[in-house]
Amino acid sequence: MVDREGPLAFITFNRPKVLNAMNRQTKEEVLAVLKELATDDDVRVIIFRGAGEKAFVAGADVKEFADVRPMDQREDRRRLRYYETIAGYPKPVIAMIDGYCLGGGCELALACDLRLASEEARLGQPEINLGIIPGGGGTQRLPRLVGEGKALQLILTGDIVAAAEAKAMGLVEEVVPREELEAKTREIALKIAEKSPVAVRLALEAVRAASRMEIEAGLEYEATLFALLFATEDKAEGVKAFLEKRKPVFKGR
Ligand code: CAA
Repeated sequence: MVDREGPLAFITFNRPKVLNAMNRQTKEEVLAVLKELATDDDVRVIIFRGAGEKAFVAGADVKEFADVRPMDQREDRRRLRYYETIAGYPKPVIAMIDGYCLGGGCELALACDLRLASEEARLGQPEINLGIIPGGGGTQRLPRLVGEGKALQLILTGDIVAAAEAKAMGLVEEVVPREELEAKTREIALKIAEKSPVAVRLALEAVRAASRMEIEAGLEYEATLFALLFATEDKAEGVKAFLEKRKPVFKGR
């Protein structure tokens, strides 16, 4: 389900009977929507959420695992590039997490740029209980976010942690009461939506590069992106507005 709200696009996982578990169709639908929204200049921030109060996303749909052959699973993952598409998306992506956020759901949140949670959020990588390991980037993105020890604790025990604990380990950025989650998410998303979309995009690219580049190359990359922004109308407007003591009007050029 997609709801447009000014510069924000909410994508809702809407399979509440199975706690919004993602099957093949869900993933293909999400990818199709993301493709469409990527080129829509009016949309500045994407927000993922789950339908109902019980779950954000309780994982990949386990029913589909019953008779999948290993090589098909591998090829499918490579072809679809579901989590990678979210992690490399050209606009900021926020996970608005209420209720269960498990397995592939947690990995989806890890692929997002920000994770905002309600006090009722419950996060974890319980794949080990199924005799498998996280397969949506969890073994790579989780340690980068919370450190190897905490990541292994979650991945090896399959334990589900409450929102406060998730925040303490850096797995989510904010925790607010359930009734405030939507307002908090909107507030942060709208603040981002007001900035220069070009600067936002390059900030995403630079920071995302930090986990895959060694420091010298990363600093060089940052310097190049920084310099590139000096060629934009938005930079001229931002500096001019500051000097004229007024609010800038960014056009994304
Ligand atoms: N896939 C398919 N169906 C799921 C599901 C999932 N990931 N999670 C929940 N459901 C279904 C349940 O089977 C149940 O369906 P029925 O009513 O038809 O029995 C319905 O959702 C409601 O769930 P429960 O009755 O189990 O609800 P609960 O409150 O007792 O328990 C829960 C909630 C602890 C989250 C439990 O549902 C659970 O453990 N779910 C599975 C979580 C999981 O293992 N996720 C990881 C999947 S593997 C993965 O994601 C791989 C990857 O890395 C990409």
